[in-house]
Amino acid sequence: MPLADILHMNIGDGDSSYANNSLFTKIEIQKAAPFIMRTIRSMANHDVFFDHCFRIADLGCSSGKNTLLIASNVINTIEEVYQENNRKIPQFEVCLNDLFGNDFYNVFKLLPDFYKTLRKDKGDKFSPCFVSAVPGSFYGRLFPDKSLHLVHSCYSIHWLSKVCHGLENNKLNIYIAKTSPLNVLQAYGNQFHTDFTKFLQLRFEELVCGGCMVLTLRSRSSLDPTGDDSNSFWDLLTISLLEMLKEGLVQESDIISFNIPFYFPHEDELRDIIQAEGPFSLDNIDVFELNWGQDDYTYMNEYTHESNHNQGKNTSNLIRAITESLFTSHFGNSIIDELFKKCEKNATEHLATNITRHLSVVVSLTKKMNDSVVHIILLVP
Ligand SMILES: C[S@@+](CC[C@H](N)C(=O)[O-])C[C@H]1O[C@@H](n2cnc3c(N)ncnc32)[C@H](O)[C@@H]1O
Repeated sequence: MPLADILHMNIGDGDSSYANNSLFTKIEIQKAAPFIMRTIRSMANHDVFFDHCFRIADLGCSSGKNTLLIASNVINTIEEVYQENNRKIPQFEVCLNDLFGNDFYNVFKLLPDFYKTLRKDKGDKFSPCFVSAVPGSFYGRLFPDKSLHLVHSCYSIHWLSKVCHGLENNKLNIYIAKTSPLNVLQAYGNQFHTDFTKFLQLRFEELVCGGCMVLTLRSRSSLDPTGDDSNSFWDLLTISLLEMLKEGLVQESDIISFNIPFYFPHEDELRDIIQAEGPFSLDNIDVFELNWGQDDYTYMNEYTHESNHNQGKNTSNLIRAITESLFTSHFGNSIIDELFKKCEKNATEHLATNITRHLSVVVSLTKKMNDSVVHIILLVP
């Protein structure tokens, strides 16, 4: 079955739902906020920025409070920039995209409050904002030609379009691991290259000239994909699966044929693809770090006013919220509770002695103005 028909973050608002486990991503969104601000300010140099309707697409929006948080951040910033330029605030169209299995229903339930807050904060002078859902893969066309002003995507484009071919000799690894053969590293890198190139080509068609993108992805610090701890979540899952194999709860052949379609690009890989792809200028690229297990948990505890935060449980719930659909589709439903019980134990042990660095890379890009036709008239006396 195609990945686009299988993959979805856990629905609803239970313990292992994405909606209840997206605080980590919220921190990322906040860290990337100055980038969005800078990008929107730079757009004010283009006339098209002042169109009467400003169209924003959030690709891989998932479901939960983050989804509309991004929309509010963008709207607030655009409003500020229009006011600075003495322009009438435009209408807004916010297009929320994700795969077909996404819990859009959960997002729709948040909309009445979102609209109410906008009306309360902005008053009557505020132009209408229209939110719509656009289900489908961002590795295909989603919007009409030259219809978007800003594309935003946080923590989504590191998902590949499919599990790459040629991973048979990755043995009992479910991702790139220290024992993975070179061809596995290359297969993952090539698939990301193909997918991200396609992504840029598609968005080039959909953005207006001068339109921008702000993209945040998980990343890694080392050019060698096995050279840092970026894979630690997947390592916890591998250890848990191997324990289940020993106990006879999963088949070896099922582990061998399972590989996670996810890739952490190094910032140089992103830069190379963007520059090779030509029609976008790379305005900014930055890498930031979260220390999983210490600083940011403290921050999250303050944020949620939770005490006795169970780091292992939260880590396992987050991994489950993101990957359960993949495991269920490959191994069946029956292993899931035991797998994540083991994952919780392994995460607790890991976090007791390790601080794991999680790197993210954020890029902002502008569609070059190269498809405007320039007429030169030669006046011959
Ligand atoms: C970890 S969530 C991030 C959600 C949200 N942007 C946030 O910051 O909280 C990643 C989302 O990307 C979506 N996704 C993955 N591949 C996709 C694709 N090819 N097209 C559209 N969405 C995709 C997943 O379904 C998932 O909802």
